[in-house]
Amino acid sequence: MEEGDCTVTVDEWAKLWKDGKTDFHISELCPMFTKHVDKLLNNREKVKTFVPLCGKAVEMKWLWDKGHEVVGIECGEEALKEFFEENKIGYSIVEIPELKGKLYKSDDGRIRLYCCDFYLFNSAIESEFGAIWDSGALNAINATDQEKYVAIIKSLMGNRCVNLSVIDDATDWEIPVNFDKMKTWFKDGFSVEANDYVEADEKLKSFGIKGQQLYTISKL
Ligand SMILES: C[S@@+](CC[C@H](N)C(=O)[O-])C[C@H]1O[C@@H](n2cnc3c(N)ncnc32)[C@H](O)[C@@H]1O
Repeated sequence: MEEGDCTVTVDEWAKLWKDGKTDFHISELCPMFTKHVDKLLNNREKVKTFVPLCGKAVEMKWLWDKGHEVVGIECGEEALKEFFEENKIGYSIVEIPELKGKLYKSDDGRIRLYCCDFYLFNSAIESEFGAIWDSGALNAINATDQEKYVAIIKSLMGNRCVNLSVIDDATDWEIPVNFDKMKTWFKDGFSVEANDYVEADEKLKSFGIKGQQLYTISKL
């Protein structure tokens, strides 16, 4: 498959959530998260953590339980409703006209999930993140959007920000991101390391994933 061929629009993603076609959601913590979360948090408390294209990722609940702040972006409104309802976390919803979307906010304010197109999000809305958990995000976006996506991510990384980005190594499509691309995107003020490769567990294998590559991006 040529790069850029497999484009999924934001409306198509939102429809998948509406129709309940969300096999990509995994209800257990990502093994790479469990293995490397200490690197992500680095002994810090109350870390403002960004989860791009968050779906209803279970890692968000884990981070909230540990006292951290969680900001996510997701175009599928059902994902956000299901996240709060399945985890029994009280929430409210407000319109955010500048994002042409809505904010789903936990009653304690520590979880803020924006329902909008990622590419409308910017550092005037939320900024200075201390951590980013990127799984199924950079990995899943259209190849033609990668540079735009990376520019937004870089603009949101605050001092000492640690960004863990997980890239699936799948059997039936090209690896969407490699180390050379990462080094090109994250130079000048950032460092990027290829840290770990773990073989997929049975659950991931059932999605055709052979393994996962972890990149750690730090703001210098
Ligand atoms: C592969 S899923 C990963 C979900 C989540 N990160 C996880 O690990 O469970 C990608 C998610 O990104 C959302 N998405 C895709 N493009 C988007 C966009 N432009 N703006 C906001 N959300 C988007 C989809 O609805 C979907 O939930």
